Amino acid sequence: MFILLTMSKIKSKYVCQNCAYSSVRWSGKCPECGTWNSMVEELISYDKLKRDKKTSSALLKVNQDSYQSLSEVTSINESRTQTHIAELDRVLGGGIVDGSVILIGGDPGIGKSTLMLQLAEKISGKKILYVSGEESASQIKLRADRLNYKLSNFYILSETNLDIIQAVIEKETPDIVVIDSIQTVYRTEIESAPGTVSQLRESTALLMNLSKKNNFSVFIVGHITKEGVIAGPKVLEHMVDVVLQFEGERTHSFRILRGIKNRFGSTNEIGIFEMTDMGLKEVLNPSEVFLSQRNYGASGCVISSSIEGTRPILIEVQALVTTSNYGIPQRTSMGFDYKKLNIIVAVLEKKLGLFLNKADIFLNIAGGVKIDEPAIDLAVAMSIYSSLKDIPVDSETVILGEVGLSGEVRTISYVERRITEAAKLGFKRIIIPKGNMKNLNSKKFNALIIGVEKIKDAVEKLL
Ligand code: TYD
Ligand code: MG
Repeated sequence: MFILLTMSKIKSKYVCQNCAYSSVRWSGKCPECGTWNSMVEELISYDKLKRDKKTSSALLKVNQDSYQSLSEVTSINESRTQTHIAELDRVLGGGIVDGSVILIGGDPGIGKSTLMLQLAEKISGKKILYVSGEESASQIKLRADRLNYKLSNFYILSETNLDIIQAVIEKETPDIVVIDSIQTVYRTEIESAPGTVSQLRESTALLMNLSKKNNFSVFIVGHITKEGVIAGPKVLEHMVDVVLQFEGERTHSFRILRGIKNRFGSTNEIGIFEMTDMGLKEVLNPSEVFLSQRNYGASGCVISSSIEGTRPILIEVQALVTTSNYGIPQRTSMGFDYKKLNIIVAVLEKKLGLFLNKADIFLNIAGGVKIDEPAIDLAVAMSIYSSLKDIPVDSETVILGEVGLSGEVRTISYVERRITEAAKLGFKRIIIPKGNMKNLNSKKFNALIIGVEKIKDAVEKLL
């Protein structure tokens, strides 16, 4: 009796819900990633102990058949299923590779479920099983009806227990399974609550095994929370084949689908959507859309171009410079790196002699997009200058260039593509770094190309 009791003593450990660091002791701050309040008690499963035993018996059997030389491996042609949502297909590298595991992450309410439903509507001739742990079947039906979707060969399972989900998958043999969301499903063998790192990892592992065994593709929807309180799908990224991120500001209608990892294609592509009352609409001409609400002739507004994936997109940089009411001036940046903004402000003060230490500066990229490439630096600098002096920048000009610490305008990549896009949309003047002029045949564009060397030259040319 005594022996039995000690054998069934439950062991537990504390696991960081952000980075999966584990320890036998609780601590307020994760020693690995430094996140506060992220250590959660999780029970060590007997499954794992059993697995360890299995491994040791398997190790005894390792022989020549267990591995092979690469030349002996027979190659297979990857077959792909088109989703018929062009923006999604592009990000996936030309459709869903059959049998792959795709993780799609994003903030709650960004539109992941909507995208999945839309995917189900567009894909034809495939059997789809939609497993929803968040919405009931009738709620999904309601949404589908409202969006006017005719979903045939589409099955809804409102369930969170993975054993049941597994049984349904094995019975129905779907071609595509959607799990919405991974945070709600659980395996009964794992004692910790749904949404904890152990559950996420084990549930994903089970789905991956099932997908390989029964040859279906699976979309795993995962929520990311800013605080990382609920385990983000970060810990799952290395397990799956493709990681997509759905991002955007909830208050804006644009959504960007970004490839973070793709075993079957490049991660250089993005898909742009607009959330409308009739679901997500693909944005095929992003520049025109982002510039559709332009404010002509307003000071502080400057047009620049960013390369998103392989496509150039024209965006509007807006700055507002006002006198500060407090001792420490405010700097606010939306859609642009805050540190970079501070650097640009410092360069403007030092190299152009502007007095900005008593000014609040608000910077915004219109349309709710986030830009993290240096090519729009000069446009940011010019928008601040324009707002401070209250002189508008010519509305037919596009400004490109990276700003260096000594006030120099540094060369940027893909300059031709950016110019072509700008000229196509009718812009007449394009300011680019002088360094980019060398290899450029500026005559072939239907616009005046002006090279600048210093931030000062840009001001002279512009205002
Ligand atoms: P949803 O797909 O449920 O987000 P997620 O699964 O990522 O949590 O969509 C969330 C928001 O999208 C919801 O707040 C309302 C909005 N929405 C529309 O604006 N139009 C639509 O046609 C649909 C279906 C949703
Ligand atoms: Mg959802």
